[in-house]
Amino acid sequence: MKIIIINGPNLNLLGKRERNIYGDLTFEEFFQHLKKKFEAVELTYFQSNVEGELIDKIQEVGFSYDGIILNAAAYTHTSVGIGDAVKAIETPVVEVHISNTFAREEFRHHSYISSGAKGVILGFGLQSYELALQSFLS
Ligand code: DQA
Repeated sequence: MKIIIINGPNLNLLGKRERNIYGDLTFEEFFQHLKKKFEAVELTYFQSNVEGELIDKIQEVGFSYDGIILNAAAYTHTSVGIGDAVKAIETPVVEVHISNTFAREEFRHHSYISSGAKGVILGFGLQSYELALQSFLS
């Protein structure tokens, strides 16, 4: 099973960025833990701060992978292009967020991704990614 985690802008700063919201672990540390725990899954990770690069990656993997776990970060709330890319591909997408976006500012309550996603998992910290991964296995 081939699954990719795609992270959007500023998620390369996990472990440094607003640690009260996003925690102390870097994504690379967490990713190693996930790879160990889900050894049977061919798990890859891509991060970009650039909207077009995220769209390119979604298109590249979106007809051959078994699943995409997508945290489009701030682009979740702004990007028609990423939302359209999610709808254009065949691979199912699970949208994840580390924080509970509904408990935060109003501009974070809308997502351009959700309507095209298989499901949405948010508010469980980095465990949101783990729950998303599990959803592809059951
Ligand atoms: C986020 C929530 C977004 O609103 C924010 O812009 C992020 C991270 C999350 O994982 O909680 O960068 O997607």
